[in-house]
Amino acid sequence: MKLLEKLKGIEKAAIKEIIDGGSLDEMEKARVKYLGRKGALTSAIKNMKHVAKKDKPRVGKLINELKQKMTALIEEKERGFREQEQVLFENNDATLPGIKREVGHKHPLIKTMEDIIDIFVRMGFKSVDSPEVETDFYNFEALNIPKNHPSKETFHTFYVEGGKLLRSQTSTAQIRIMEKYKPPLQVIHAGKVYRPDAVDASHSFMFYQIEGFMVDEGIVFSDLKGVLEKFAKEYFGQDVKMRFRPHYFPFTEPSAEVDISCFICEGKGCRVCSYKGWLEILGAGMVNPRVFEFVKYDPSKYTGFAFGMGIDRISMLKHGIDDIRLFYENDVRFLKQF
Ligand code: DAH
Repeated sequence: MKLLEKLKGIEKAAIKEIIDGGSLDEMEKARVKYLGRKGALTSAIKNMKHVAKKDKPRVGKLINELKQKMTALIEEKERGFREQEQVLFENNDATLPGIKREVGHKHPLIKTMEDIIDIFVRMGFKSVDSPEVETDFYNFEALNIPKNHPSKETFHTFYVEGGKLLRSQTSTAQIRIMEKYKPPLQVIHAGKVYRPDAVDASHSFMFYQIEGFMVDEGIVFSDLKGVLEKFAKEYFGQDVKMRFRPHYFPFTEPSAEVDISCFICEGKGCRVCSYKGWLEILGAGMVNPRVFEFVKYDPSKYTGFAFGMGIDRISMLKHGIDDIRLFYENDVRFLKQF
């Protein structure tokens, strides 16, 4: 029977089309194509008049079953697509809080460095750059640390190719700048220094220092005291006291080590200040006239002061950090706290 074969063909094509269909639109197209007014199944029904009378109930039943089957299949697929749309819609709810993206921030040492520089810049100091790979002249000789001088041991140094070295102090910037410019100078330089020290809670082979100096006619020790006191009060708090202890540095004469009263216990004595009530924060002094000779300044005309401090140490004191290695291990659990 021709019509039966035709119906089988329609069934096969329709089911494949519905199953393969990937959207609500495609389901609607299949509905129109097979079940619509001009659809394949509808025209098959119209052909019923050519079917022999005895076959009519069987063919009629078949057409009905086919119609139900196709309708059910289309509806099932449509339900699936609607659910999918719903899920997508819910996931796209614009009122839901967004996914928080972690934005990085500055490393605590860089923040400390910038805060310190900022204070000196406000006092009129100019922040400059200076190389990390240096020569013996800038790291030692011009800073009045002669070859074989015992003080050279304090600044033991990494040597690199071509007779160069990794600077062990930022005092090199004094020479670099004075060599290039004439007084008056009021300069600050911060950066990395390197020393082949065994790494422990208070030593790192690389750390940060900040160097400051001021050179002009008539600069005196009280200028140094004034500038440092202003810095200490700005950075550690207005109640902080300062003291200068005599010390030796080859590039300054006289030299001093500078302490501030412990801002944690206010001088009473605690774990941070090792029960001394004082915290050492920097080295300083009046620029040694011999240094001026190396940079061809007239020592009878100019005087100046210089100071240098460890940024790591200042940051550790300020934030109560007890191990310098934390700065360099890149552990976000630590870094996130600042
Ligand atoms: N460069 C010294 C150091 O690394 C610190 C220092 C001390 C710098 C005294 C100075 C200074 O400018 O006057 O230990």
